[in-house]
Parts: sequence; C-alpha cells; structure tokens
Amino acid sequence: APPIHILGLESSCDDTAAAVVRVEDRGATILSNIVFGQTDLHAEFGGVVPEIAARAHAEKLDHCVEEALETADVSLKHLNAVAVTAGPGLIGGVLSGVMTAKALAATTGLPLIGVNHLAGHALTPRLTDGIAFPYLMLLVSGGHCQLLIAHTHDRFERLGGTIDDAPGEAFDKTARILGLPQPGGPSVEKTARDGNASRLRLPRPLLDRPGCDMSFSGLKTAVLRQRDALIAEQGGLRRSDRADICAAFQEAVRDILTEKTRRALDLYLPQENPALAVAGGVAANGPLRAALEALAAEHETAFIAPPQALCTDNAAMIAFAGAERFRHGQTDDLTLAARPRWPL
Ligand code: KG4
Ligand code: ZN
Repeated sequence: APPIHILGLESSCDDTAAAVVRVEDRGATILSNIVFGQTDLHAEFGGVVPEIAARAHAEKLDHCVEEALETADVSLKHLNAVAVTAGPGLIGGVLSGVMTAKALAATTGLPLIGVNHLAGHALTPRLTDGIAFPYLMLLVSGGHCQLLIAHTHDRFERLGGTIDDAPGEAFDKTARILGLPQPGGPSVEKTARDGNASRLRLPRPLLDRPGCDMSFSGLKTAVLRQRDALIAEQGGLRRSDRADICAAFQEAVRDILTEKTRRALDLYLPQENPALAVAGGVAANGPLRAALEALAAEHETAFIAPPQALCTDNAAMIAFAGAERFRHGQTDDLTLAARPRWPL
C-alpha cells in the first residue's frame, strides 16, 4: 500500500498538540510532534482549570498545526486525513480541537477522523515498536488506569482498572500534600531517590482481592496521615521525611500495579509472541518500568515501554490511531461530536 500521511490534533487535557505521522507497510514514522504544555497556566490553582485550558487550546491550536506541518515539511494537500481527539476529556478543550479539525477538513476536503484519546495511548506501542495484536496493555495516567487486551485497533477488552483515583492523580495529590511542585509524578520520583521506602508502611488496597481492579485513594489518605503524624511528632517536616514518604508511596503504587499486571498476565495466555505494553504519563516512572520489565521477563513476554514523550499526552499517538482507522475506512463526517465521556 502507498504511504499515508495523517495530521493529528490533541487538546483533551492540558497539552495542546499537533503532529504528522507517515504510515507505510514497513512501519510508522513521526515526522513532527509539537506539544505546547499549559502547566504554568494552571500552577497557581493546584490543578487543571477547564476554562483556562479551553481558552489556551483555542489560542494555540492553529499555530501548533502550522508548526507541525512546517516541521514535517508536509503541506495540507499532501495529507490523507485529519485526525482529532474527540474525547474523553475536558469538553471545552475537546471542542476546540474538533472545531479546528472540522475547519481544516471542510476547507481542504480531507477526511476527518475522530479518535478516542485512550485508544491513542493504547495503540502507541504499535506506533513505536510495530507490535502485532493482541497484546496486554497497562494504561496509567493522570485520569486513567486500566489493564486491557488490545485485540484490534478498535476492540479493547477491559480486565480491570481503578475503582477510585488514577495513579497519576495519586502522585499529584501526594506532591500537593508534601508541598512538592506539579505535575506530581516527576517531583515525587525525584524526591523519592534519597528516601528510605521501608521507614513508613503504606497500605496496598485491594491487593488481597482476586481480579485486576485497583484502588489508590486510600494511599493518598495514608500519606496525609503519615505527614500529619510526623509534623505532630517533630514540629515540622524534614527533607528526609519527604523523601521517605515519597519512596514509600512510589513503592506502594509500584506494588499495586505490578501485582495486578501479574494477575492479568496469568489470566491472559497468548499463544504466540506475548507482549506487555505500558502507556500513559505514569509509565514514565522509572521504578515502575523496572518492575514491569522484570515481570514480563519472568513470563517470557516482550516488554514495550514507549519513550517518555510518547507516554504522556501527544498528538503523534492521535495521528497514528487515526491512520489505523483510516486504513479500515473508518472516517467521520462534519457531524463528528466531542464526547466528554467515551469508554474504550
Ligand atoms: O498521560 P498524561 O500526560 O495525561 C493524562 O492524564 O491523560 O499523564 C499525566 C500524569 C500526571 O498525573 C503526572 O503526575 C503523571 O502522569 N506522571 C508521572 C511521571 N511523569 C508523569 N507519574 C509518576 N512518575 C513519573 N515520572
Ligand atoms: Zn492521556
């Protein structure tokens, strides 16, 4: 088949992103991958403010698209389609992206493709490593936590997931509780490096229950309690206390995710070329990656962890997921709706 070029747009949370991906029989190539983060805009509010996010997306999207096309050195008329995150996410941002994509499709006549943001994350190992279906996927981000089997580009079987907070949310809340900068994942990981994980005992909720469901909200409450106990005891928090709490927290998250993934691997018995892939912002976590890699090796299963820039929100994954749909003739028309909720 001739190569196809897809422009992807992403604006469902706090990153405005555009990318061009080329897909050929021998694999996919990312020609550009532009991301404008909004962390600074939301920093003083302690979380993503939907109205501020939507306005920033609306202001940045056109420029972002221009830069993606320029960097890729591809003109609009050489594209095969425009793919856009149509949900799930913050509705204002998703709408900005969908409207921008519709305007592009309407003025150029290019096909429009609505992509599920979660499918974008879940298909990333095919973009980076070209692995075949089916594979087991651990999707862990600020808003999501699922173990699933990717059967095809649009059929995902959910084995389990969080019953409350997502792990990234727990990292972000832990950082807030300890006065560390946002996003919490990287700052907690960095702080944990000097810590002693065994000084404090944190719970591992649901670990004793069968199945692949997980829970993280009790962990955040336990962190709060440990912090307050240390403050009451010592009159304040030392640097080493923060490090120890971060290390214990990170270890608890690692244990929960690794144990549930072990169960999923035991349940899921692929005959040939078994593969375990991770995606989502939390997949950037070093100790978690190392534990999952060891787990996969134990199961004689390939382990695929995309580079960090493709684990966190980006538009290359949206362009690629769009390409998978395009190759199956799955395009949308200008009535494409933005969906705040859209389960895989
Ligand atoms: O996938 P993502 O960019 O956005 C969505 O939630 O869709 O993930 C962001 C989340 C944040 O909660 C952030 O704290 C977490 O991923 N994260 C990390 C690390 N880097 C980012 N969590 C743990 N360790 C990290 N190194
Ligand atoms: Zn995401």
